[in-house]
Amino acid sequence: MSANDMRRPSVKIHQTAELACEAVAELIAGRIRREPSVTLGLATGATPRMVYKSLIGRSDVSWRAVRCFNLDEYVGLAPDHPASFAYYMRDLLFDHIDIDPGQVHIPDGSASDIEAAASAYEEKIAENGGIALQLLGIGRNGHIGFNEPGSAHDSRTREVLLTQSTIDANRRDFPEGETPPATALTMGIGTILEAREIVLLATGSAKAEALAAALQGPVSLDCPASALWRHGAVSVFCDEAAAEKLNIETLKGRGSASAAA
Ligand code: F6R
Repeated sequence: MSANDMRRPSVKIHQTAELACEAVAELIAGRIRREPSVTLGLATGATPRMVYKSLIGRSDVSWRAVRCFNLDEYVGLAPDHPASFAYYMRDLLFDHIDIDPGQVHIPDGSASDIEAAASAYEEKIAENGGIALQLLGIGRNGHIGFNEPGSAHDSRTREVLLTQSTIDANRRDFPEGETPPATALTMGIGTILEAREIVLLATGSAKAEALAAALQGPVSLDCPASALWRHGAVSVFCDEAAAEKLNIETLKGRGSASAAA
């Protein structure tokens, strides 16, 4: 990809994770107020917890017509397993808002035919007019969704093998002694890049290296998040800890970084 094809994401650095999450919650709430039937792409994991906490406290936001698609789910976990992303979403968001359960979509990791479930998910997204606003976290190895290093930038929803580092990072969500699944069903990088707008949220120093690789390294299969350069409307919200390996002066010089109050 030549330098002219590159479309640098904007980067907003907040002092704390709380402030970064609050800013993202505000952005999502504003979007729902302006476009009540917006189609959102949602992420799970530790990072967006505070975003959801902030969103459920807003009585002036109605989710009645909102449509949601989650990025991923473990293969082999039933939706009522406490470590499943379906459970996480109900627990942290869906059980606390007025969303129509028929408008909630999460990849079906317990389907008997995973390939068919992956194609059905892509079709469902298309039927809903595509994703307008996609929320992403980032893995320590630069993964987005569960697209691990090596994933093609035009990949679609599919079953993927999780790396040991991802399995180890997510072990915290599983009951003691239970081995997390080795595979997951995830939207592909190509699927993610079709969202009209993307917000990547990164907090904590454990994400500093991955964020620097995504924003300052080459666009490569080694860092799945570097594929975001292929998109024209990406905003990165991070805290100072996640930004600690960014070269702020260089980013500011290119007009892409700003410190938030
Ligand atoms: C979650 C997801 C993952 C996470 C990433 C970071 O739906 O798709 O890409 O965003 O693994 O996870 P946390 O936030 O737990 O550090």
